Amino acid sequence: MDLPNLHVSSHPAVLHKLALLRAETTEPKKFRELVREISWLVGYEALADARLRELRVRTPIEETDGVELADRIGLIPILRAGLGMVDAMLELMPTAQVWHLGLFRDERTLRPVEYYNKLPDSATVELCLILDPMLATGGSATAAIEVLKKWGAARIKLLNLICAPEGVETVVSAHPDVPIYTAALDRQLNEKGYIMPGLGDAGDRQFGTGHTD
Ligand code: PRP
Ligand code: URA
Repeated sequence: MDLPNLHVSSHPAVLHKLALLRAETTEPKKFRELVREISWLVGYEALADARLRELRVRTPIEETDGVELADRIGLIPILRAGLGMVDAMLELMPTAQVWHLGLFRDERTLRPVEYYNKLPDSATVELCLILDPMLATGGSATAAIEVLKKWGAARIKLLNLICAPEGVETVVSAHPDVPIYTAALDRQLNEKGYIMPGLGDAGDRQFGTGHTD
């Protein structure tokens, strides 16, 4: 499959942090820090073609040309796991709007279930960045993209930390206009829909909810 819209980071800093993120010994505090740091780096790459507007700026020495971001940008974290990517993206784009979307995967069917959506009637941003660490079957991402397209989003990008080939194929087939930016493209899904080698459950590992006994 030709995937011109899939951008997998090859930056050494991303690859170094990714191995730490995957390690089962990485505790939630460190895991959250790594999610934030890798999100910043992947987000930086995803914004390389953001639109700019020219302006004039006065330095202490003289006036000169400058630019500012021209797009109104919306961050759409997919609850829960996407929450950990928000702060990094707000550091990159402090004026971005944040619109939360609640989706969880039914463990039996692996289909996404929407449980939180407070988007206003029509789109308030030009560029939407969907934030979710994991793209597994692609069901959640596809559902989020459909919500945003109905909302009237003009441009949408998907930011992940780890993708499975199955999920990439699902998103690219349904929405070839949506570029995907990720730190890693992994091997495949297991029978429970988890990414291999992956990192386990991104929500549980961030919020320390993996063990209930
Ligand atoms: C995870 C992840 C994605 C989804 C990916 O969320 O954060 O949203 O699964 O799987 P998919 O590509 O097969 O749809 P989960 O449903 O575990 O919810 P959580 O973030 O609340 O833990
Ligand atoms: N969601 C996760 O958190 N991890 C996976 O491997 C797949 C879906």
